[in-house]
Amino acid sequence: MSFTDVPEIITRVNRSELFVPGSKPEFFKKAVDSKADVICIDLEDAVAPPDKDQAKKNIIEALNEMDFGKKTISIRINGLDTNFCYRDVIDVMENTGDRLDLIMIPKVGVPADVYAIDMLVTQIENKFAKKKKIGFELIVETAMGIVNLDSICTGSKRIESLHFGYADYAASVRMRTTNVGGPNEDYAILTHETPEGRLVHWNDLWHSPISKMATIGRAHGLRIIDGPFGDFSDPDGYNAQGKRTAILGCEGKWAIHPNQVELANNLFTPKTTTIERAKKIITAMQEAEDSHQGAATLDGKLIDAASVRQAQQLITQQELIDSMN
Ligand code: GLV
Ligand code: MG
Repeated sequence: MSFTDVPEIITRVNRSELFVPGSKPEFFKKAVDSKADVICIDLEDAVAPPDKDQAKKNIIEALNEMDFGKKTISIRINGLDTNFCYRDVIDVMENTGDRLDLIMIPKVGVPADVYAIDMLVTQIENKFAKKKKIGFELIVETAMGIVNLDSICTGSKRIESLHFGYADYAASVRMRTTNVGGPNEDYAILTHETPEGRLVHWNDLWHSPISKMATIGRAHGLRIIDGPFGDFSDPDGYNAQGKRTAILGCEGKWAIHPNQVELANNLFTPKTTTIERAKKIITAMQEAEDSHQGAATLDGKLIDAASVRQAQQLITQQELIDSMN
């Protein structure tokens, strides 16, 4: 390990993050009754401009009156390039108590984007003597967001997590797709000649930015969360995308429809067999250490101190999930 420590930012269970448009208060209760770990009430892209004011009123009313139980509650504000952004923060924070947990900032491009929102939030928290300190979720969804990500993560101590925004990212870098997540038949390679002819192997067109986000975010101790999968009638596609991002280090995924919540919870809860193996690794390495061995063999495979670290982070994730139930 480096002598520089990676700080552990507040850890929350964030396997599923269910989005509800602020303009549809009739869906709020359904979201509360769902198994989502986090509910994000949207003021941004799921709300048409003429409905933004009413959406904000709905959110204020819900935060003051609704019983959200133990759920983590977030709001997605409008981007800093709009005229809605500052009032989203001020109106919601000044007119509600301490129920809001997180603010999601879309389309971050430079550290000052986050710093500016922190300035507003800090003043309001101090003026109103709020007991809870709001955390930030950032959506990484522009070319600038990727290029400046390392410094963006230093923009505020409130940042808890990074989220990948497929649609805006695709638009920003001019990808030739209108899908929100998922594969594309044009992003494929042709194999050499095989007995079945030349095979087409589809690749993951989202791999590079998500992998970057995971590495940079983790260097700052942040949670890494996979974004939306637009085709909510394709659970297999959702699962395939989520499996890939879980392997890359994401610990949760957005649900843009309630039927994606259970899928996300299952995908981002480590498998029983994975945890069993992790525990076996810890035990085997303890035994190895007791007999002055730095490495051991488990089920025919080499394990050493790095395997213990791999195993331990999985067990820690599972313990966090268990602590919520
Ligand atoms: C989410 O905000 C996206 O752009 O996909
Ligand atoms: Mg977006």
